Amino acid sequence: MTIERKWWQSAVVYQVYPRSFQDSDGDGIGDIKGITSRLGYLKTLGITAIWLSPVYASPMDDNGYDISDYENIAAVFGSMADMEELLAQAKAQGIRIIMDLVVNHTSDEHAWFVEARQSKANPFRDYYIWRDQPNDLTSAFSGSAWEFDEPSGQYYLHLFSKKQPDLNWENAQVRQAVYDMMNFWIDKGVGGFRMDVIDLIGKVPDARITGNGPKLHDYLHEMNQATFGERDLLTVGETWGATPEIAKQYSAPERQELSMVFQFEHVGLSHAPDAPKWDLIALDKGKFKTVLSKWQTELPVGAGWNSLFWNNHDLPRAISIWGNTGSYRVQSAKAFAILLHLMRGTPFIYQGEEIGMTNYDFEDISQVADIESLNLYAERLAQGYQPEAIMASIRAVGRDNARTPMQWDMTEQAGFTTGQPWLAVNENYQTINVAAALADKTSIFYTYQRLIALRKQNDWLVYGDYQLLETSESIFAYLRHFEGQRYLVVVNFSDDPAIFKSDFVAEKEMIANRSFPDDLSQVDLAPWDAFAVAVK
Ligand code: GLC
Repeated sequence: MTIERKWWQSAVVYQVYPRSFQDSDGDGIGDIKGITSRLGYLKTLGITAIWLSPVYASPMDDNGYDISDYENIAAVFGSMADMEELLAQAKAQGIRIIMDLVVNHTSDEHAWFVEARQSKANPFRDYYIWRDQPNDLTSAFSGSAWEFDEPSGQYYLHLFSKKQPDLNWENAQVRQAVYDMMNFWIDKGVGGFRMDVIDLIGKVPDARITGNGPKLHDYLHEMNQATFGERDLLTVGETWGATPEIAKQYSAPERQELSMVFQFEHVGLSHAPDAPKWDLIALDKGKFKTVLSKWQTELPVGAGWNSLFWNNHDLPRAISIWGNTGSYRVQSAKAFAILLHLMRGTPFIYQGEEIGMTNYDFEDISQVADIESLNLYAERLAQGYQPEAIMASIRAVGRDNARTPMQWDMTEQAGFTTGQPWLAVNENYQTINVAAALADKTSIFYTYQRLIALRKQNDWLVYGDYQLLETSESIFAYLRHFEGQRYLVVVNFSDDPAIFKSDFVAEKEMIANRSFPDDLSQVDLAPWDAFAVAVK
């Protein structure tokens, strides 16, 4: 079987969280002009596309994941002209813009919902999900998923904040309105869509089914045919509950749904299986290897496609929870990069990851802006938790860890803004910043740059098979096989030295974060050492 190759299979995507990337007008909030001004930096890094978190008109209850007008830009981020300029400038640099598509819900300030809540008879009423009585479904942001709408006398469903009412995908008019909006953006020249909590659109609330509902894939196939199906776009679904089998349903080419998925199985290892994400546990390295390897072997080329990521705007910084942010910060950040970027799948880099940005030391709830953390705080306080215990969770895994401003240089506010930033800059910006990284040829930045270049040049990396090697617990080692060639990747995933033994013979050096071994029969690995070589 010959498999059609797609540009997005060898792409590397960089996620920009607009609010925190670069402010251009001194209001303390990042904006579109700021992003455009940093395209040269992203070009130097070598990325192929930007996933742009939402910039649409929004009251910003969830920092833009609550959209009040899909065809306009939030004033704090700029104007449609700024957006068109970003698209044009990015195109000129060979960078595509992937829009965030948030269509599980809208803002309660969207014209559809403003109409819908007028009365039960309103033509837009059925765009949303209304019931006379709530059931026990809960919101991802704490509390009931149902909110009583006093004037119209019914409850509406909101799986996120009460300012994010869920759209009713059973309604064909809703679906058509979404497709029309997607075509509006496709006509503007976007490179694709990242689809927010797309696994929820097939929900059956009365049966308490939220993720992976029965009609989910019918809707996605319909969407594909009505919008991007014939275009060469990258589409990636945020699919929390996906297994490799489910990922195939989304991404097998013949099913004509999406290009690829974000699955979160490895992310889930940060907490106990049935516990909330707030209760962090130590990483089980055995499970970690098993999970990452499972996704490499159970989704063969042609059967579907996966993405690769450590970080995004919802997650704590991976090196802060699983790596080392002390004396091995640089080594561990490079080790994470090498481990992931030599696997099969499309890598996504979250802003600041390429310079090794870390979690923020939140001490008091007044320092926190994220609605999820604020709601958790209120809920747990009411349940009798001690404030410090709640803060410990927010400090470890709260979403604002990823959202502190991008650290550009050593000037005040790390070069992010000339004003007061909406969220505090991490104090470590004096050492961790882009200017310092660019000036140091041994920095994390250049490891990322090299990994991105390797992906562009090497088909083995994009399409090769994967095989996990048996090693001691803290060593993560695998082989990639491609057209008779073999490539070995070895990472010491720990703060302690380790010994790697094998009978491979090195043929060609690919990348290392410290040095290449002379002899693969016995390699003394320092903490967080990582290297890749072609082997005989
Ligand atoms: C997704 C987004 C997250 C947002 C939520 C609701 O999980 O990544 O930031 O809060 O959906 O839209």
